[in-house]
Amino acid sequence: MIHIKKYHTNNQYMHPRTIEEITILPGKNRSGNIENFSSITIRPGDTISIVGPTGSGKSALVNDIEIFAHGDTVTGRTILVNGEQAPEDFVRDPAKKPVALITQNTKCLADMAVEDFLEMHVRSRKMTDERIVEKTIALANEFTGEKIRPGVRMTSLSGGQTRSLMVADAIIISNAPIILLDEVENAGIFKEKVIECLRTHQKALIFVTHDPVVSLLSAKRIVMKNGAVECILEPGDEEKEALAEIIRMDQTFCRMRELIRAGEIIRSVNPV
Ligand SMILES: Nc1ncnc2c1ncn2[C@@H]1O[C@H](COP(=O)(O)OP(=O)(O)OP(=O)(O)O)[C@@H](O)[C@H]1O
Ligand SMILES: [Mg+2]
Repeated sequence: MIHIKKYHTNNQYMHPRTIEEITILPGKNRSGNIENFSSITIRPGDTISIVGPTGSGKSALVNDIEIFAHGDTVTGRTILVNGEQAPEDFVRDPAKKPVALITQNTKCLADMAVEDFLEMHVRSRKMTDERIVEKTIALANEFTGEKIRPGVRMTSLSGGQTRSLMVADAIIISNAPIILLDEVENAGIFKEKVIECLRTHQKALIFVTHDPVVSLLSAKRIVMKNGAVECILEPGDEEKEALAEIIRMDQTFCRMRELIRAGEIIRSVNPV
């Protein structure tokens, strides 16, 4: 079960609401036809990827989830929480929002030091763990090659550093049970580390992705076309061998990338 955690003054968690499942109900495709599925259920710990060509409606689907659409978006979809319409404060109150959406365009316009920015977020959530800012920066630094220093300005972080920090913030400070990543893994952060970390924190993970490793690591794959869900794949063991092979190839790629970044000359590619 995913709990929406909220701090008591005595620093104990209480659980005002529990998210057991999120349900996506069909909307319409770009031609106005009803989508071809009855419902999609997402539970804590699920890893789902959303794939499909450019412009097929992947971001629109994660945006529907992020705002708990109820027929009020371009797609006409409805997102239920535990079988019911989401409570108003899930949508309105950023401190109670159980969803964190991180995109490639996630930018931070606050011209303040990283530690001050996180400190402000911690205070707004009335948290009292003194080391929480330090822990958040340390986690972000597991996801990114170039380390983030606490005193650096938010505006001078690189794209990859910003996204790493936002993922760490979503996990530790926002403590959001549902994390949506819109094509983040291609953008200079260590994807396996992020996936592993989100899984250990029992988050529901929804990726918009073109990455073969991330797609095959997800138990479910939602395939989009023309603004609608075209089909939902659950390949299970069918893809087991392909996944092992792709992970091997990916490790070779990652190693090459790191060597290139480090300024090395690549004379041969030794597969892992
Ligand atoms: N069901 C729909 N009905 C009408 N318009 C839609 C629907 N789904 C998506 N759109 C619109 O189509 C456009 C492209 O959709 P979207 O940005 O979600 O595509 P995408 O798959 O994320 O593309 P990319 O891979 O380039 O990021 C957007 O303007 C979106 O609002
Ligand atoms: Mg998109």
